[in-house]
Amino acid sequence: MAETGSHLSGVWSTATDIQVDRGMGCRIVDVNDQQYLDFTAGIAAASTGHAHPKVVQAIADQAARIVHSQINVYRHNLLAPLAAKLAEITPDAIDRFYFGSTSDEIIESAVKLAKHATGRRSVVVFDGAFHGRTHYTLAMSTSRLIDREGYGPLPTGVFVAPFPDPHASDQEEEVSRALRALDRVLATEIASSEIAAFVIEPVIGERGYIPTPNGFMAGLAARCEEHGILFIADETQSGFGRTGKMFATDSLDVEPDIICMAKGIASGFPFAALGTRRELDDLWVTGSHSGSSNGNPIGCAAALATIEVLTAPGFLDNVKARGDQLIDALRELQQLDQALLHVRGRGLMVATEFDSAERAQAVVDHCLRESRVILMTAGTRGRTIRWSPPLVVTSDEINEAVSAFSAAIRATG
Ligand SMILES: Cc1ncc(COP(=O)(O)O)c(C=O)c1O
Repeated sequence: MAETGSHLSGVWSTATDIQVDRGMGCRIVDVNDQQYLDFTAGIAAASTGHAHPKVVQAIADQAARIVHSQINVYRHNLLAPLAAKLAEITPDAIDRFYFGSTSDEIIESAVKLAKHATGRRSVVVFDGAFHGRTHYTLAMSTSRLIDREGYGPLPTGVFVAPFPDPHASDQEEEVSRALRALDRVLATEIASSEIAAFVIEPVIGERGYIPTPNGFMAGLAARCEEHGILFIADETQSGFGRTGKMFATDSLDVEPDIICMAKGIASGFPFAALGTRRELDDLWVTGSHSGSSNGNPIGCAAALATIEVLTAPGFLDNVKARGDQLIDALRELQQLDQALLHVRGRGLMVATEFDSAERAQAVVDHCLRESRVILMTAGTRGRTIRWSPPLVVTSDEINEAVSAFSAAIRATG
């Protein structure tokens, strides 16, 4: 509900009541000049940290030249360089790019492309995924009921298949079980010849930062190949260095046909991209899809500057090292309290799962109140705390956040 007297919609929930004034690196400063350590990066978006000088400069320079250059009217001179840069850093076969503003818009675009490229109408997604909040991407999302409740009926043509249980003791058997369950969906609910694409997050985000097992990805890729189904990787959260690789799929044995990018691509500036293979893009009918802000020049400038930072020598090695440091330190804390059930993650996409949502929330609240460290919960049952600091996080900042977390575990047990 909106605050009394406020003209702002009450529809947004908020993790904190901080009124932010500015940010730098991993810190934000509120209107009272109070500093906080931001281990959310605005839900894994501020990849290069807040107000990275290169990104700020690129945005300012571009804003002074032109703010809006509508792609259906004329082209600006950052479009081709950005597409070329993305072709360098995405998997080899991906070499055509479409630019939008938000991830859910890009996922919608990816499904529309898959429909034109295959002539098929349906998609398969996986249990617990989150792909957005437009009606179609909401139909693809099953991470939390509150996102869907009261919004149905949702569009048809979306089939949800099981995702392997990350807590099963025999992971190999669990992956086989989930693949058999997918085959059953294909045998009973929707013919493979009618499926345009499988859409999956390489690390399931909103369900609680659960890495998709390599064997499951390989099983999906094999079925795609056998049945002419496209493989769409939603790298909204896991892309742009978040897992210590430029894309999470880089460390898996699959090559997506379409890769969806947002959040970290432009350090949190509203910008998103879809990459695909040339022969698929050639089947996307010219004039059949677009948007007023597509390829926005400031977004392109922010993306180019972000990529320059992320591809600097040693940058991703530091992400991996900081991720390992964080996971090791959090695993040690598991000895403190059995309520901390699981620590998992890849790179700086890390999760700590408690035995109850109340405990997870109490720990988050304590970190904010006593140590001014901002963390957020995630997960279907809200039992998981996600750790997604800006990728420029230092070893000292990791230690600071972990010691806040350790104090919170002791205080709330
Ligand atoms: C994997 C994934 N896909 C899509 C989205 C939707 O992103 P946006 O709200 O920026 O459109 C999100 C948002 O968290 C996400 O994590």
